[in-house]
Amino acid sequence: MADKNILVTGGAGYIGSHTVLQLLQEGFRVVAVDNLYNSSEVAIKRVAELAGDAKKNLAFERVDLRDREALDTVFASTKFDAVIHFAGLKAVGESVHKPLLYYNNNLIGTITLLEVMAAHDCKNLIFSSSATVYGWPKQVPCTEEFSPSAANVYGRTKLIIEDICRDLQKSDSDWRIILLRYFNPVGAHPSGDIGEDPRGIPNNLMPFIQQVAVGRRPALSVYGNDYNTSDGTGVRDYIHIVDLADGHIAALYKLFQDQSIGCEVYNLGTGKGTSVLEMVAAFEKASGKKIPLIMADRRSGDAEIVYASTEKAKQELNWRAKYGIEEMCRDQWNWASKNPWGYEAPESQS
Ligand code: NAD
Ligand code: WQD
Repeated sequence: MADKNILVTGGAGYIGSHTVLQLLQEGFRVVAVDNLYNSSEVAIKRVAELAGDAKKNLAFERVDLRDREALDTVFASTKFDAVIHFAGLKAVGESVHKPLLYYNNNLIGTITLLEVMAAHDCKNLIFSSSATVYGWPKQVPCTEEFSPSAANVYGRTKLIIEDICRDLQKSDSDWRIILLRYFNPVGAHPSGDIGEDPRGIPNNLMPFIQQVAVGRRPALSVYGNDYNTSDGTGVRDYIHIVDLADGHIAALYKLFQDQSIGCEVYNLGTGKGTSVLEMVAAFEKASGKKIPLIMADRRSGDAEIVYASTEKAKQELNWRAKYGIEEMCRDQWNWASKNPWGYEAPESQS
């Protein structure tokens, strides 16, 4: 079953790199493509080192998905059995200020990919959607049946791509597509050799906490402590990156084994909610570092409580998350302490 060729777009990124490693360990042959806009080729080198002998099954191409000719060349050199499509821009705040950048990159990138896939008769796809499509949910846990909405440009690109995938599959039943809605991926590979390395000021909670812990930033701003939650801070469903990567392997097997799949959506989360202050406390325990806090206003567009219903993924993908916040914080800290400046330390720090 694993004797297959998989194209991974955005393969040098945070989720992509961890998934590429697990694909290699599972026995798949992988071609990773990435334009390195938000990532470093060092991530691919580290994945190759971690993969041991399986590194012979990994190739990397620096390609922008919107470059049809370059993408076509990649498809001409390998007959792919499936594509896992991570490549996209993901910063919510930036998307609101630069909508054309986001629509151009995420939509044109995806449409070009789908067209090139069709031209090469590769019609098996796994796409990275997001819990952002649940907006401020009326109730929790969020089930896949909730009607989706978009609170910002980034979220709208996810909704539009989900719709494109549904329309495409309706028009041609040879397409078999799994849309995975991730909740809040955190942590790192237990080796501490690969992890999340955002460029610029981190938008997300865990990379920010990590940068405070290693001394790159003075304090964490807690966005709102007047929510209707146990301690007043926002509640999210944090999922260990290794569990998330594993969810992609489960989805891939589903695509290959279940011929009835048309276009199906699955949540990837743990089903458990954790507040900002609980996450800070768990990180302080794992790292032994104190995280100074500044109580700040709510961040615009943030929801109060978001966590996943995990039933559908359990039933149909036979997948469930194994790790809790202790392991997430342990592995995040291991990565941070081994790589305080991420993959590429600035000159002044090396
Ligand atoms: P990431 O930025 O680390 O990885 C995305 C990769 O795609 C980067 O390496 C980037 O350089 C590459 N890329 C972007 N545009 C490209 C293009 N036009 N051509 C080629 N490469 C391009 O982000 P991530 O956290 O690994 O996220 C992966 C996917 O999962 C994204 O689609 C994101 O929207 C989605 N997602 C992420 C989260 C999260 O919290 N990390 C949650 C839900 C969904
Ligand atoms: C988590 C909690 C913040 C930073 C985002 C995207 C979503 C998905 C995952 C891609 C919230 C609080 C955060 C900080 C804080 N990504 N926080 N101080 O907002 O749940 O989801 O990432 O698809 O689409 O919207 O994640 O990590 O930004 O925030 O207090 O400096 O931490 O208010 O309660 P979020 P997050």
